Amino acid sequence: MSSVSTAKTAPPQFDVEAVRRDFPTLSQQVNGKPLVYLDNGASSQRPEAVLLAMDRYYREMHSNVHRGAHTLGDRATNAFESAREKVQKFLNAPSSRQIIWTRGATEAINLVANGLTEKLKPGDEILLSQMEHHANIVPWQILAERTGAKVVPIGVTPEGELDRESFHCLLGERTRILAFNHVSNALGTINPVADMVAKAKAQGVITLIDGAQAVPHFQVDVQALDCDFYVFSAHKMFGPTGIGILYGKADLLEAMPPWQGGGEMIERVSFAGTTYNTLPYKFEAGTPAVAEAVGLGAAIDYLASLDRGAMEAAENALLRRANDLVASVPGMTVVGTAANKVPVMSFTIEGLHPSDIGTLLDQQGIAVRTGHHCAMPLMEFYEIPGTARASFAFYNTLEEVEQLFTALRKIQSRFA
Ligand SMILES: Cc1ncc(COP(=O)(O)O)c(C=O)c1O
Repeated sequence: MSSVSTAKTAPPQFDVEAVRRDFPTLSQQVNGKPLVYLDNGASSQRPEAVLLAMDRYYREMHSNVHRGAHTLGDRATNAFESAREKVQKFLNAPSSRQIIWTRGATEAINLVANGLTEKLKPGDEILLSQMEHHANIVPWQILAERTGAKVVPIGVTPEGELDRESFHCLLGERTRILAFNHVSNALGTINPVADMVAKAKAQGVITLIDGAQAVPHFQVDVQALDCDFYVFSAHKMFGPTGIGILYGKADLLEAMPPWQGGGEMIERVSFAGTTYNTLPYKFEAGTPAVAEAVGLGAAIDYLASLDRGAMEAAENALLRRANDLVASVPGMTVVGTAANKVPVMSFTIEGLHPSDIGTLLDQQGIAVRTGHHCAMPLMEFYEIPGTARASFAFYNTLEEVEQLFTALRKIQSRFA
């Protein structure tokens, strides 16, 4: 009886040492010290499975896709389209037609902002949040300049949560678009996407969710969220650089004009006029990043091979340990203490510039990001130039958290 109840309540086990062996980059020395890689929010590392899938693609099946009347062309096309289906399942999208390859989250947001030009008129409002990455601010500012619409920021609480009151006040008759991140890159806050999307939809507002920092940490279901668009980059979720995803509702994608012209995106070209290809190809001009798509598919397979519940529990344990150790570093302040967070710790230390913290940590083999994290309006809100940010992934260990804090104590006592 007791063993049954223990089994039910015991936290799921996650073999972090086994997982680390899958990531060749992690087992190296940097500046004479074992690498402690805590810059996963900027870009994560890739498992061997991704490297092998891309290598195999180039060795055995590379050709251009959708064109060659030959075996290699078929192999490349099959690998490319099967990767698209993996992304569809990964996001639980209704159809692979709704999965558009882009160069990354940034390009996906630009594509949507460009495609929605006709939906806006002067005086309309685009609602963003104050905790957006510049990638989810600037494309909307460009759209606003082009159409006479206005970008309006939703406020943030001192803890780094979206201010619900500000959101409710600002979501109004003029709002046409609501765009915000699922997870803040600078703070780690997980935003209440489904709830906010439901409120926006009740007013006929188009919604875009920037999932760049969400997909590396937890499973996402775009149908459950009911957002109109969802974007992410492969390189933050253990896949290659240079490729990302735009998911969109089919009716909106159908109604949007093409974004770039060229091969692949056409049905028929003549000097009398051109007709466009169907989804998703309408938005995919030119030769795509085939090996990168294959690599992203392999990253999805890799994530699917892990126990996601155990992985999330392990990540939460990293954040808990880091939170417990903050008090051991005099003058350390955590920026962003939301109740619902992924394992990201942004911080300042009195008397030390964030970039000096980064350099001194690097000397001890510890990689963190410092600066404004492409979230200048958020730094303005906190009235700081920037922070140092430790962003953890499932392959980080509790010992690495300890090492970070040992190093911070050393730095603080010597230099602050
Ligand atoms: C929340 C968020 N959105 C968008 C981006 C942009 O991603 P990319 O540079 O891969 O297009 C980032 C990158 O840091 C991010 O953290």
